[in-house]
Amino acid sequence: MALEDTRSNLKKFIVFEGLDGSGTTTQLKRLASRLQGAGIPAFATAEPTSRPEGQLIRRILKGELQADPGTVAFLFAADRHEHLHGTQGILQRLQQGEVVICDRYVLSSLAYQGCTCGASLPSHLNAFFPPPGLSFFFRIDPESAMRRVAQRKELEIYEITEMQCRFAKEYERQVEEKRAAGWRIETIDAKKPIAEIEETIFSLCLAYLAEA
Ligand code: TYD
Repeated sequence: MALEDTRSNLKKFIVFEGLDGSGTTTQLKRLASRLQGAGIPAFATAEPTSRPEGQLIRRILKGELQADPGTVAFLFAADRHEHLHGTQGILQRLQQGEVVICDRYVLSSLAYQGCTCGASLPSHLNAFFPPPGLSFFFRIDPESAMRRVAQRKELEIYEITEMQCRFAKEYERQVEEKRAAGWRIETIDAKKPIAEIEETIFSLCLAYLAEA
């Protein structure tokens, strides 16, 4: 599918970004059901995906497989490409008229892989992907975020406070850079109560989708 044909559809591509434990997954589910409840067809998805490429990444994140940080950057890019262009992928869904909301996208690679394998490779690999219409950046201090993560699951290779501190700084830098390049990115205070964040995001999305 040619990307040129889908430029206007990308308006309905909405992305959530933030550190592990910033609450993007919870809010993604809530936004999907609020949009559906308002009669807006919405499809919730995430990266890494559950496709074969994403499953391989999950094994690396769990520490079951070892891989060079550069290889991980390539795998995230391959997973993203398939997620966009594959059957029932993001572009197809957008073309069908759905709003696609995605937990993590390009900014995750620029922040995480930017810190683990150097900025150059992820920046090159991700230059090929189209910008989302709207992104939400969930801002939280790494210590609070890691406390949340440690309470609920077994930790993955990036889920160490020292690393998350570096990712947080890189995220802030990348958000500023992308905003300057014309990306629309709303910042969310991720320490606010869950219900309040839900309302904020839902009303921002409704206003955004209603724009001409
Ligand atoms: P996520 O699914 O948000 O975390 P979990 O399911 O464990 O709560 O993301 C998994 C990890 O993958 C997270 O630490 C961020 C990392 N990641 C990258 O490093 N680069 C990327 O491009 C993406 C999409 C995720």
